[in-house]
Amino acid sequence: MLKTNENGPKPLRSRAWFDNPDNIDMTALYLERYLNFGISLEEMQSGMPIIGIAQTGSDLSPCNRHHMELAKRVREGIREAGGIPLEFPVHPIQETGKRPTAGLDRNLAYLALVEVLYGYPLDGVVLTIGCDKTTPACLMAAATVNIPAIALSVGPMLNGWFRGERTGSGTIVWKARELLAAGEIDNKGFIKLVSSSAPSTGYCNTMGTATTMNSLAEALGMQLPGSAAIPAPYRDRQEVSYYTGKRIVEMVHEDLKPSDILTRDAFVNAIRVNSAIGGSTNAPIHLNALARHVGVELSIDDWQTFGEEIPLLVNLQPAGEYLGEDYYHAGGVPAVVNQLMEQGLINEDALTVNGKTLGENCRGAKIEDGKVIRTFADPLKKHAGFRVLRGNLFDSAIMKLSVISDEFRQRYLSNAADPDAFEGRAVVFDGPEDYHHRIDDPALEIDENTVLFMRGAGPIGYPGAAEVVNMRAPDYLIKKGVTSLACIGDGRQSGTSGSPSILNASPEAAAGGGLALLQTGDRVRIDLKKGSADILISDEELQARREALKAEGGYKYPDHQTPWQEIQRSVVGQLATGAVLEPAIAYQRIAQT
Ligand code: FES
Ligand code: MG
Repeated sequence: MLKTNENGPKPLRSRAWFDNPDNIDMTALYLERYLNFGISLEEMQSGMPIIGIAQTGSDLSPCNRHHMELAKRVREGIREAGGIPLEFPVHPIQETGKRPTAGLDRNLAYLALVEVLYGYPLDGVVLTIGCDKTTPACLMAAATVNIPAIALSVGPMLNGWFRGERTGSGTIVWKARELLAAGEIDNKGFIKLVSSSAPSTGYCNTMGTATTMNSLAEALGMQLPGSAAIPAPYRDRQEVSYYTGKRIVEMVHEDLKPSDILTRDAFVNAIRVNSAIGGSTNAPIHLNALARHVGVELSIDDWQTFGEEIPLLVNLQPAGEYLGEDYYHAGGVPAVVNQLMEQGLINEDALTVNGKTLGENCRGAKIEDGKVIRTFADPLKKHAGFRVLRGNLFDSAIMKLSVISDEFRQRYLSNAADPDAFEGRAVVFDGPEDYHHRIDDPALEIDENTVLFMRGAGPIGYPGAAEVVNMRAPDYLIKKGVTSLACIGDGRQSGTSGSPSILNASPEAAAGGGLALLQTGDRVRIDLKKGSADILISDEELQARREALKAEGGYKYPDHQTPWQEIQRSVVGQLATGAVLEPAIAYQRIAQT
């Protein structure tokens, strides 16, 4: 279906560069340089759509590196459908390799990709997604520019194995740390165990931020149906790369744009799917950011409203047992969507990149392995979404309900009269370095009911917001068998962590949030039912502390180390609203203006 107006099909935007008789000087200049590697003049002026392949893979980004291979099949698909592929690099983002945190790079990659998509002769783009922040960075840029765009996941790694058991990337690190602290393995054993979880090309095989965001990119309608979960090395991944290339050319002819797909209905679908898969606490940050760039109203409270009652269906680590290959064989995203759809919990009319609705794509999709994907009637947990908390510590923070263990519940939530609330003594750390230096210091008197606080870890305090809120307990408690303490903070936490932290607190300490006023030794009260989190001190005392902090010049955080850290800190928003570059929100659908 070609979108046409009275003058016929919409002209391709690349024609303004390559076929503009009114400006023959510039046309010649544009053409000669793209011809210099062998594309013919005839091709360039034939009216074939020019399709960008936004390449996020590189040697610096091992999770996405396989896209360099997959792009060959994407190109074949584009060519076969009558398009011309032009591949270009995206600023690399490697979740595990970037100092101080890859969180700093999502907005930088976004910014640079907007500039490329807007400023070059591209009619459509294939977004190669995968490792945590590559997915939101690419989708956010496509949303801002709003040219036809389709996402292609690189796919998860194969399952990791160690002595007959599945080892999941990221998640195994928490376990290995406990074994190391308890003296059960040495440093070499630690590295061996951790490396076992990464046996092939691809992104984290757990339900971390990568599997979450790739699943949600499909649930949002931005990837071909059934494609998100295909493991990176499988032949099906090559196949879907080819079909993705073919499809983007058709999308250009149909003028099917991100704004047609990324509607509020689509975001509500994604929130529900996120609960059902046991998705990462990074999802609200990235989806709220995406919604703002495409101009859709979405709030942190929407995550509780639409997501909290949804049961956990997908049995993947860290909330469950299995890994990425199992998820794919069990039916992937369509099987999950179909379970929710049968309960009337999916906006079925939401349009997707293949030109069909989510309902059409997923209706009847079967669960192929009931151990890995459970039915709605027989879930792993009843409520798997996020609870939003607020109080004098912050305006909002979230807690992932699906990872609260029974042991944790017993230790903190055992007061029969008040089973949803706990009070504890706060021990406060200012940033991850402070935590690492002091956590094992017995003088802090941390016990099994202490509440650990991490502040100075938000988008401004620790530029980009560090994944550090899930703090391991001191060694002396781990040796006693206490592995997780209640943790609260203004930073993020890795999606691969099974820790029930209260995190993404906004505003952060560095932006004047209540966390800045907290002192070690304060009593704090958390009420999960009411959704409250407060320091138990008088309003007068709180006010006095606020004034004292102001007199000292406010909450202190480390100096900038790079120009981008300084620039981003000056314009970045808080985690609750996506931690976007605030001035960028004014720029929407810019390819149409
Ligand atoms: Fe790249 Fe997990 S570190 S996907
Ligand atoms: Mg991460």
